[in-house]
This record gives sequence, structure tokens and C-alpha cells, in this order.
Amino acid sequence: MIFERIRKNRLLKQIDPHHLPQHVAIIMDGNGRWAKMRGLPRTAGHHEGGKSLVRVLLACHELGIKALTVYAFSTENWKRPKEEVDYLMQLPGQYIDRYLPMVKEHNIKMNFIGHLDQLSDELQEHIRRAQEETRENTGLIFTIALNYGARSEILEAIKALIKKANEDAIDVESIDEGLFEQHLMTAGLPPIDLMIRTSGEVRLSNFLLWQLAYTELYFTKVKWPDFHEYEFYRAIIDYQQRHRRYGGL
Ligand code: IPE
Ligand code: IPE
Ligand code: MG
Repeated sequence: MIFERIRKNRLLKQIDPHHLPQHVAIIMDGNGRWAKMRGLPRTAGHHEGGKSLVRVLLACHELGIKALTVYAFSTENWKRPKEEVDYLMQLPGQYIDRYLPMVKEHNIKMNFIGHLDQLSDELQEHIRRAQEETRENTGLIFTIALNYGARSEILEAIKALIKKANEDAIDVESIDEGLFEQHLMTAGLPPIDLMIRTSGEVRLSNFLLWQLAYTELYFTKVKWPDFHEYEFYRAIIDYQQRHRRYGGL
């Protein structure tokens, strides 16, 4: 415990508070392998992963990061065994029940993206309550991607724009990057500066394909349930040493 605190403080000192990423996105991966290594069911890894999320959320809040977006369930994750899908689908509701008071206390605003209408009525009700009760909050914007897929998000945006053009609500020539972004599920969120993926996989798995175009990517072998605050600080320190050029010099 004491060594952990020393390690945490040593890393914290290396972070420049004036050069923080505004918006961090995370692909929380490796729960299943974490559990398997311990001879536990995969669901135990998801349970443990929930704790990492709370730790990282609080670390973002303490640092003063503006937005955190996490990938909790992809449109492709339905392919998993029913037992695992059922477990993953009840987890957000359980966490909302337990942590909504803490979230409110910290002035955090909760937001959900994805095809939410395909989720159970019970989960949709939890989501509605979490968003409603934190609507006025002005602190960290915490977005959870649930039943989210970037390709379908992009297609939905295109369809919405075509509809508007057909109804003469917009001129096709006026469609630019700004207008397109307003039709994505992430409309209104700041640009994503840093994307972290845990567990050693080096791919995007259909996460925020448009939004990550100029994002700094950070991959770590650490599995999500082992991702502690100091792992998060390491990612921020790494980000702060990068030179973003956006195609310039
Ligand atoms: C990430 O962990 C959580 C979800 C995808 C919901 P995984 O469940 O993908 O864990 P691994 O990648 O199989 O270890
Ligand atoms: C991405 O992880 C989805 C989430 C973390 C929610 P996966 O484990 O589903 O991705 P793949 O299958 O390794 O690409
Ligand atoms: Mg995985």
C-alpha cells in the first residue's frame, strides 16, 4: 500500500498540469485473459475491470481532465456466449446503482453512446436516470460506449445528412467535417487527444474511427483489471512527451 502510494506520487510529479489531454478514450481490454490466468471465470475479470474503471474515473477527475470515454461493449460483443453477454449487460446498471451518488458528488456528467435502444428496458432505465440526474453537472464528462460500433455510427450520420438534404433542410455542398461531426454520437465532446488500449492488442476494434484520426495512441500490455492509477499516469506522461504535428512541421 505504502509503496503503491510512493510510486503514484513519483509519477504524479512528472505530469505537467498545464499540458493535459482534454479528452481521453480507453478500450478496456483483457478482462477475460486476466481471469483465465488466475483460473477464474471470465466474468470475474469483468467484475475486477469495473474497479479499474472507478479508479481511472477518479484519477481523471482529480487531474482535471475534461472528458473520458470508455468502450464497454461493442456491437460485435453479442457474438460471445450468452452467459457472458448477460453478465456484461447487468454490470453497468449495478455500477450506476452503486456509484451514481459518488459521481454526482464529484460533479461528473454521465453520457452514453451506442445503439442504446437495443439494450434491455431495465438497463435503458438506469442509463436514463444516470444521464438525467447528472445533466446539470459541469465537471468531467464521462461517456460509456455500450453496444457501440464506429462503422454503424458513421453510416447513421450519413443517413441523417442525406435525409436532411432530401428535405432541403441542408445543402449537400454545406456538408463539411464540422457538420458531419455534429451528426456523430460524440457530438459536442472535445477532440480526443489520447486513446489508451490495454491488454497488448494493437487495433481499434471498431472504436471511434472518425474521432481518432489525429489522436495519440497508447498501447500497453497491462490487462484492464491490473490498470491502476499509476498506469494511467504513465500513459499521460508518455502523451506529454509526444510532438503532435497534424501534418505540419
Ligand atoms: C474487455 O475484455 C471487455 C469487453 C470486451 C467487454 P475482454 O472480455 O475482451 O477480455 P479478453 O480480451 O478476452 O482478455
Ligand atoms: C473491444 O474489445 C471492445 C471492448 C473493449 C468493449 P474486444 O476484445 O471485443 O476486441 P477484439 O475482439 O479483440 O478485437
Ligand atoms: Mg478482448
